[in-house]
Amino acid sequence: MSDAMYRDQILDHYKHPHNQGHLDKPDARFSDNNPLCGDEIEVFLKIGKDAKGKAIIADVKFKGQGCAISTASASMLTDEIKGLTLDQIKALTRDDVFKMLGVPISPARVKCALLSLKAIKAAVYAYLGQKLNEKVE
Ligand code: FES
Repeated sequence: MSDAMYRDQILDHYKHPHNQGHLDKPDARFSDNNPLCGDEIEVFLKIGKDAKGKAIIADVKFKGQGCAISTASASMLTDEIKGLTLDQIKALTRDDVFKMLGVPISPARVKCALLSLKAIKAAVYAYLGQKLNEKVE
């Protein structure tokens, strides 16, 4: 895809975000904000199991206020992570997000681009921590 096509894709996800909303009784949720602008995101996860019994993202939604890059990033990332195992989520990097967005991200926009990844990872770690506590108790 050309830069212009990536830009159109970002604008389209910003105007019509996928997976926006919330989940009733999520298995995990986490809210985070970009301290530079105060914009917030909250993610909701439903955790399921794949055929091998590994924990996967069965469903995901997000809500919040953000700029074009943060909203498009959340929209695209929530599409991408459905069906991934929690180990695959833990392994996602900032470069995966930059590659997904497909356009150069200026230093001022890095936090915008990564806000949803941070919140998704934090929700996964919160879920894993809760499961560990249940095992210990
Ligand atoms: Fe607030 Fe981008 S300017 S998240």
